Amino acid sequence: MAVLIIHGGAGNVHTQDKEIIHQELKRIYEDSFLYLKNHSAVEAVIYAVSLLEDSPYFNAGTGSKLQQDGKARMSASLMDGKTQRFSAVLNIEDVKNPIQVAAHLQESTDSVLSGQFATAFSREKGFLFYDPITPRQREVWLQKKKSLPVGTVGAVALDDKGHLAAATSTGGKGFEKLGRVSDSAMPAGNYANQKAAVSCTGIGEHIINESLASRIVTRVIDGMTLEDAFQKSFKEVKAHQYQIGAIGIDSEGNVSFDYSTPTMSYAYQDLDGNLIIYPSS
Ligand code: GLY
Repeated sequence: MAVLIIHGGAGNVHTQDKEIIHQELKRIYEDSFLYLKNHSAVEAVIYAVSLLEDSPYFNAGTGSKLQQDGKARMSASLMDGKTQRFSAVLNIEDVKNPIQVAAHLQESTDSVLSGQFATAFSREKGFLFYDPITPRQREVWLQKKKSLPVGTVGAVALDDKGHLAAATSTGGKGFEKLGRVSDSAMPAGNYANQKAAVSCTGIGEHIINESLASRIVTRVIDGMTLEDAFQKSFKEVKAHQYQIGAIGIDSEGNVSFDYSTPTMSYAYQDLDGNLIIYPSS
């Protein structure tokens, strides 16, 4: 059974952006689900997150938010539930698809790289210079508007062989201090094993404080259902007044998601195979 859920970030969606975000999620979900039918869960989440990174309407890859100094520094991670290997890049610059660089680190003994060293590693692997800054994000930075309501992206998949994987990618919070580290490149924001896989979005510091992705997955491996693990974990998130969203799948193919933010954009198929997308058209 192949199962896929993707998200385009937690927060608000501008009314004028709702239709385009809906169409982008629909296009990316349908393309990625087709891909998952002939590929592993790991390959499919890399594929889905690459498409989300390439869309300028999400805060990852092209369209990433800018840091205090006007530069885009991106973070992404990949976790293979079958091997339980985590790999990530933090604050990488001038590449098109940070998730694909993180994928190259899966087999490495040094599986998490940061800053200029992550960028240098990407060049070694043949990733060409690419400027991910869009005119829209440059304008937002010039006007010192702190938040354009676009979010981190993520994908979680279960493949036909019963393997799970999670991938998450972000341009960060926007206007952050140089050197700030995002949850999207940590097991707090992206985690998977043989039982469950979870990708988070929202305020990185809140996600790190909850260690949310690894917490939900651990609860499932300790015997809770995915639904109960989401419910309990989001009760805690809300009690702390944290701003977080998350998506997940378990090894039985159950899908869960929740958020404490006003909205979260996502796409998945319900039990009858209907494609559910928020924002709806
Ligand atoms: N969740 C993305 C970030 O705060 O960096």
